[in-house]
Amino acid sequence: MQLYERIPNNVNLAEDKRLQRALENWLPNYLDWWREMGPEGFQEKEVYLRTAVSVHPEGWAHFDYVKMPDYRWGIFLKPAVQDAKVGFGDNTGQPAYQEVPGEFRNSLRRIIVTQGDTEPASVEQQRELGKTCPSLYDLRNLFQVNVEEGRHLWAMVYLLHRYFGRDGRDEAEGLLQRRSGDSDKPRILEAFNQPCDDWLNFFCFTTFTDRDGKFQLAALAESGFEPLARTCQFMLTEEAHHLFVGETGVGRVVKRTSQLMKETKNGTNEEARSLGAIPLDIIQKYINFWFSYSLDLFGGEISSNSADFFAAGLKGRYKEQAQYTDHAVTNETFSLSVVEDGQLKQREVPMRNALNEVLRGEYVKDCERAMTRWNKFIADEGVNEKLYLPSTRFHRHVGEFAGHTFDTRGNLITQAEFEQRRNEWLPTLEDREYVRSLMHPVTEPGQIANWIAPPASGIKGKPFEFEYVRL
Ligand SMILES: [Fe+2]
Ligand SMILES: [Fe+2]
Repeated sequence: MQLYERIPNNVNLAEDKRLQRALENWLPNYLDWWREMGPEGFQEKEVYLRTAVSVHPEGWAHFDYVKMPDYRWGIFLKPAVQDAKVGFGDNTGQPAYQEVPGEFRNSLRRIIVTQGDTEPASVEQQRELGKTCPSLYDLRNLFQVNVEEGRHLWAMVYLLHRYFGRDGRDEAEGLLQRRSGDSDKPRILEAFNQPCDDWLNFFCFTTFTDRDGKFQLAALAESGFEPLARTCQFMLTEEAHHLFVGETGVGRVVKRTSQLMKETKNGTNEEARSLGAIPLDIIQKYINFWFSYSLDLFGGEISSNSADFFAAGLKGRYKEQAQYTDHAVTNETFSLSVVEDGQLKQREVPMRNALNEVLRGEYVKDCERAMTRWNKFIADEGVNEKLYLPSTRFHRHVGEFAGHTFDTRGNLITQAEFEQRRNEWLPTLEDREYVRSLMHPVTEPGQIANWIAPPASGIKGKPFEFEYVRL
């Protein structure tokens, strides 16, 4: 098979024999990982998937049936712009880095490995879900997300092999060795070690955790290390579909619950539950869980790393070029809340040290938009309830609020109070078991599980009834 057939790319792989050999050695290990940890039970099935075949805005994707192990995981970077410059930080205006500057080598490697680790982790978290799909349409979307996370791993591994020599090779192997939730070799970030074993978890994960991915990639898409920036710019085009899957997925669950509530005598969650709906209060708890874990992914509110990465021109702000004029950010400060002597207080910190919090703020705004759309589904059915985002202080394990306990409105409370009310706010074992009890596979084309509404339209102009996976 031709090289381009095995590894589609726009990085001139054929010209770089050393890199080609490295990636060809890595490929079988990757495939072993995919067969062991990828979607369980569907490896030989034909799935209607999109494959990235170029970076042209028109037609970068090709749609066809493919067996997942035969998916053509490729390496695509947005084309280089002429005379690219470092866009922010202490070296603003200098030529963008085409190779890894020695003094930033460790920082860059850490950024790339941390991003890279999330990609296979999510595939591992989701590997059992195919067995309980609510429809063929959803099954196909799950697999689309999975193969693209695989491609994102390829994207990061390309950078490691191409720019980091021997340590890059070792890190690329490490990415295939850690396992989500494993006590000895866990994935690096905690959200990626949480089980994602029912479809409400999956839709919340793709809404909230993939959305963290969008914002991390967007910040790295501004990077002065040009190969990283161009890699992330292209990954963002795929990521948009993952967010779509999550947001419309939760939206369809919310819509179906609201419809079933309306069908009952008193329109309550309990009655809807007796009709097989996922009650809104359980959906709310899942939101609380995944939103809070995803907030942790942005890192500490006050962070010298964020300041260093920005100063070095490695990781910018969201839409750094489009949304800001001052790219040095040396004089500004940022006011944020911290816990001091058992009380919430405001503190001013240099803006550069608050950039994790600034990015998290952009993320929260984006999540609010999803909430608004979900609440519209509820209102459209005439149901008088609302879902909400908890406070960003609620249930945090990283940063200023870790080690303290807050209610969902962000009030500081005692650990004992938190434990007393935990079951109101976070999914209980019983909630999870109930949701799991609804998860039965529906695999007839055009059919759908009772707990979720069908999508507004199909994929790539195909109807919902299309045979998206040939079982
Ligand atoms: Fe990804
Ligand atoms: Fe994703």
